[in-house]
Amino acid sequence: MTIETIQQDFFARGEDGLPKYRRLAETLAHLIESGQLAPGDKLPTHRAMADTLGVTVGTITRAYAEAERRGLLEARVGAGTYVCPSHRPGWVFSYPTQTPDECNLGYNIPPYVDRSAPLAQAMQTLSQQAEQLNHLMLYQAPQGLSEHRDMICHWLNRHGIELDPTRMHFTSGAQHAIQLVLSVFCRSGDTLLTEHLVYPGFLGLARQMQLNVKAVEMDEQGLIPESLDAACRLYQPRMLYCTPTLQNPTTAIMSRERREAILAVCRRHQVLVIEDDVNGLLPVDAPPPLVNLDREQVIHFGSLSKCLAPGLRLGYIQVPGKYQDRLNTALHHHCLMISPLLSALACELIRQGDADRLLTTIRQDMGQRKLLLERYLQPYHIQHHAQSFHTWLTLPDHWRLSDFVSAAEARHVIVKSAELFTPPGSTIPQAVRLAVSAPHSHDKLEQGLAILAELLAQEPYPDFPL
Ligand SMILES: Cc1ncc(COP(=O)(O)O)c(C=O)c1O
Repeated sequence: MTIETIQQDFFARGEDGLPKYRRLAETLAHLIESGQLAPGDKLPTHRAMADTLGVTVGTITRAYAEAERRGLLEARVGAGTYVCPSHRPGWVFSYPTQTPDECNLGYNIPPYVDRSAPLAQAMQTLSQQAEQLNHLMLYQAPQGLSEHRDMICHWLNRHGIELDPTRMHFTSGAQHAIQLVLSVFCRSGDTLLTEHLVYPGFLGLARQMQLNVKAVEMDEQGLIPESLDAACRLYQPRMLYCTPTLQNPTTAIMSRERREAILAVCRRHQVLVIEDDVNGLLPVDAPPPLVNLDREQVIHFGSLSKCLAPGLRLGYIQVPGKYQDRLNTALHHHCLMISPLLSALACELIRQGDADRLLTTIRQDMGQRKLLLERYLQPYHIQHHAQSFHTWLTLPDHWRLSDFVSAAEARHVIVKSAELFTPPGSTIPQAVRLAVSAPHSHDKLEQGLAILAELLAQEPYPDFPL
C-alpha cells in the first residue's frame, strides 16, 4: 500500500458533501474493507498525509481519530498509527469443558462448590408461599421489589458496602450493569478512561458502542492519581471506569488513601466514576468501596456472581441521586425488570445463612488454591491475593507472549493473554492471567500449575528466520 493509493481513492470520491476528515475516514474504511490496507499496515505520518492530500494536519488528526473510533486504526504511543488486526481476539465465553487432559485457567468463575442443598432448601421454602409465588410472577417496577432490595442492601451493608435500598436497582449481573451505564451516560465517540489493563467484557462493550477508551497508568495499587489527572487534562473524558478491589486482571486493591486521591481528581475534573465492584465481597478486609466515600460522584455496581453463583444472574447498581430517573427509564427500556424470582431466591439464601456460608467456603477454597499456586510459581513474578480468583503472571524475558500461550495450550493448559486486557493503542505487557479458581479440583489445578512451572523454566525452542 502506498500513499498514492490513499490519495487516488480520496480524490476519486470527488465533492461528496462530507467534511474532508470524514472523506478520508471513508477512504480508509474502504481500503481496509477491500483488503488494500492490511491489518498491521502502518499509515503515513500526519504531515506526509496532509502534504499529499493538500489539507491541514488537523484534518488528518481528526480523520485518524474518527477511524480509530470505528475500530479501524490504532494509535500506538510513539510508534505511529496502524490498521487494527481484523481478528483482534474477542472475549467469547465458552464454559470450560474440563476434558480429562485439559486444565482450563481461562475464566474467572467461582471455585466448584456444591450449591444444590442450599438451593433446594431455598426453592422449597419459596414453593410453600403460594401468594408470594403468584406475586413474583407479575410485572414489577424496574427497580425490583422493595422487600428484596431491603434484604440485599442490608446484607451488603453487613459486608461493608453502603447502598441505599431506595436508590439501588437490580441488574442481570455486573455485565448488564456496565451496558446500562454506558448506554445511559455515553454516546458514540465519547472518551472513557480506564486502567491500563482492564476487564475484556468492558472493552467489548465500549468497542460495540464506538467509545474511545484511553488507558491510565497503574502501579501495585491500581490507578495512579497523577496519571489520572494528566489523562483528564489531555482527553477531557466523560467517565472513568475502574475496579478498585481485586482489579481484573492485576488483582490490585486500592488503599483507602488511594481511593480518596482518585475521587479528588475526578471531582476536580467533574468526571463521573464507574466503580465495578464485582469482586468487592471476596476479600475479608477490603477498604471501603468508592461509593461509601462519595455516593454523588460514583456509579457503583456489583453482583452475586463471584460470591454466590454466576447462574443467579443477579447484580445491583446505584447511581448518584440526580441520575436515578434516567437509570430507571433505561432499565425499563432494556428489559422492563429483572426477574423477581431471582432476587427472591437470593433473599432466601441470605435469610437461611447460606449466602454467608457459601462466601466463607469460596474464600477458604481460594486460600488453599493460593498455596498450590505459590508452591509452583513462587520463583516467578506473580501478582495475587489470598481471595482472588485470578493471578497475573509476568513472563520471564526468554518467553514471548504468544509463544507461551501456544506452548501452554499444546500441553492442554489454557491461559489468557494480556492482549485481551489491553485497550487499543496501549502497550501489551508480556503477561498472562491465570484463573486459579476455574479447575474443578485441586488435583487438576496442581497438574496445570506443574506444567506451567515446567514451561517457564525452559527456554523456548529458538525459531528464527535464517
Ligand atoms: C471486572 C468484572 N466486571 C464484570 C464482570 C461480569 O460479572 P457478572 O457475571 O456479574 O455479569 C466480570 C466477570 O468476570 C468481571 O471480572
